[in-house]
Amino acid sequence: MTELNRFIREMPKAELHLHIEGSLEPELMFALARRNNIEIPYRNVDEVRAAYQFSNLQDFLDIYYQGMSVLKTEQDFYDLTLAYIAHIHEQNVIHTEIFFDPQGHTDRGVPFATVINGISSALKDGREKFGITSKLIMCFLRHLSEEAAFETLKQALPHRDQIIAVGLDSSEVGFPPSKFERVFEKAKSEGFLAVAHAGEEGPPEYVYETLDLLKIDRLDHGNRALEDDALVKRLVESQMALTVCPLSNYKLAGVTDMRTHPIKRMLDLGLKATVNSDDPAYFGGYVNENYLAISESLNLTKDDILILARNGFEASFCTADEKQTMLAKLDAFGS
Ligand code: HPA
Ligand code: ZN
Repeated sequence: MTELNRFIREMPKAELHLHIEGSLEPELMFALARRNNIEIPYRNVDEVRAAYQFSNLQDFLDIYYQGMSVLKTEQDFYDLTLAYIAHIHEQNVIHTEIFFDPQGHTDRGVPFATVINGISSALKDGREKFGITSKLIMCFLRHLSEEAAFETLKQALPHRDQIIAVGLDSSEVGFPPSKFERVFEKAKSEGFLAVAHAGEEGPPEYVYETLDLLKIDRLDHGNRALEDDALVKRLVESQMALTVCPLSNYKLAGVTDMRTHPIKRMLDLGLKATVNSDDPAYFGGYVNENYLAISESLNLTKDDILILARNGFEASFCTADEKQTMLAKLDAFGS
């Protein structure tokens, strides 16, 4: 292992863009299917992995929604979440901000409380067992209606102390952020922070809408913002953080060669880019594999790596004191 690779693996890190349902490894998918008597269209783990060939976001989403159908009970959500936390503990991630997609479950008859209680109790145990801190972000599925998003927000209110922010995910093109302006306005008035996926496949206009209409506090992906100089300038000046997901971009064909991945260009432009795994069970790697992939393909320096890690802590939804504590750990490691 090169010295830089070891540095990456051992460095304290944050993750800010992770769909908990996208951390469902094929082995656990099989175990839960068996436990819950659910049919899945694969005979073994190898067949599942072989099915993970995507040419765009929708290809992936079809398989992602099918995969999550094995999640039924609070214990299932607990097992899923604790497996993710145990995995990132091995990678020296010390703070994580996790998306969940309640509508992917409530639409199958799984109660909202089952989902959030299972995830939350694993996060609590993960903190006690591994010292990993976390936040939860509830996403609305943008291919569903505004009315359904409002209903989901209503279901979240009794659990508001467990949810830091609302987000927006699923199929992007054809489902502009403007569709959710009112539901985000309501969520913000209830005290939630806001994030949204934009510019993953959708045009720069969608990124403008997340800023102007959804009033986001952090931008998920944002790659296509690079097509618009005025937009880049605005993102730089406001120091809006971007949660970039390199292996996801590669697997969903937004980036066809990792040597052309835009994250280095983002840093050079002054954008506050961070490194994240998105859906690690589907895209071939957790946070470390994402750092290693860009480090190797883009010849990143140790300073580049430290800036990316620093951005991750600074762009988190932690308090200023909590950020200082995490940044001090990074500084102690890096010096
Ligand atoms: N994009 C949009 N929706 C998603 C993703 C993604 O990368 N992962 C899970 N839901
Ligand atoms: Zn995502």
